[in-house]
Amino acid sequence: MERVYLDHAATTPPDPRVLEAMWPAFSRDWGNPSSIYLEGQTAHRWLDEARVRCAGLLDVESSEIVFTSGGTESDNAAIRGAALAQRESGAGDHIVTSQVEHHAVLHAVEQLEREGFRATYLAVDPDGCVDLAELEAAIDPKTVLLTLMTANNEVGTIQPIADAVALAKARNPNIVVHTDAVQAAGSMDVNPSNLGVDLLSLASHKIYGVKGTGLLYVSRGTPWNAQILGGSQERERRAGTENVAGAVGLAAAMEFAWNEREERVGNYRRLRDRLLFELPERIPETVVTGPPDPARRLPNSFSCCFRNVEGESVLLALDMVEIAASSGSACTTGSLEPSHVLTAMGIDDDLAHASLRLTVGKGNTDAEIDYVLDQLPEIVARLRALAPR
Ligand SMILES: Cc1ncc(COP(=O)(O)O)c(C=O)c1O
Repeated sequence: MERVYLDHAATTPPDPRVLEAMWPAFSRDWGNPSSIYLEGQTAHRWLDEARVRCAGLLDVESSEIVFTSGGTESDNAAIRGAALAQRESGAGDHIVTSQVEHHAVLHAVEQLEREGFRATYLAVDPDGCVDLAELEAAIDPKTVLLTLMTANNEVGTIQPIADAVALAKARNPNIVVHTDAVQAAGSMDVNPSNLGVDLLSLASHKIYGVKGTGLLYVSRGTPWNAQILGGSQERERRAGTENVAGAVGLAAAMEFAWNEREERVGNYRRLRDRLLFELPERIPETVVTGPPDPARRLPNSFSCCFRNVEGESVLLALDMVEIAASSGSACTTGSLEPSHVLTAMGIDDDLAHASLRLTVGKGNTDAEIDYVLDQLPEIVARLRALAPR
């Protein structure tokens, strides 16, 4: 069997069409977009064109797009940029987020707490979803920012963003709302006006683009300050010579993702549903994590925990039979701490240590899923037989 890659939530293989689209901006048109001579202006055109294409797909103004180095930077910039601008104007000092956010969000909020902000980390139900009444109650007159992910990277739970935004803004019209749509962008509508958000983060490498590029959507008029300071690039909202080829690649990756969404999602659902329904039948004591209802989780995401096995051993054994899988988030691999997401969902530490995430992508086939359904029960049974009771 050739390698079976089932970790598309960690990163996706770059689409050759994206690489091809990027190549002229890498090789021939390598000028600095800030230079006034021909080479610079040519590079500038590539950048402008990429911005217009990204904005068109998101149905926003091109002036509302800030190119960044990826999801982490977009999240940090959104959160710090809005919270600090709001505090400066006297709007308040309170941030609301959830306990299941990516560390790019949680660590940014924790840092702001060290800088004097107050923060509320909303609890989630056993499926990983926030409670809207609790969210509404958490918003106070001094709340300046709500940051809530569109969909979770570990368990695929889709959050009720549009409803959350409506409630938050009704309670405090000055609140700025950010969503981390890094995982959702490949398979959901992330149009900021449909979600109602002021700030939205995307990363290219989760949608078959390349690593190190992303964007932050900043709605016109949103109180927000630049976080990377220096030159006047990106209308003084993100200093530093632009990654022109990266921006071109992001626009291409988004275009393919948007245009092919229906077909991709159909394929994801078919393959993922086989994992969701067939794996628990084949492996006793499998606890599916995240919503059991396929419609409430990202269409490409399956996750579970196995009683009485060590999750890391399952991953290593899968790797030996040519299957690439994850325990949850790439960032916690190798860490002895159980996942903060699973813990927030009320899963005990022992079970949380035996977690598995399989995220399908556009290259996966039924034959590959057959292979996983064949291999995994044997692996879990073997490891359970070895485990001390
Ligand atoms: C939900 C979410 N937010 C943010 C990030 C960070 O994105 P990047 O790796 O592009 O910095 C990730 C990456 O796994 C993610 O899944």
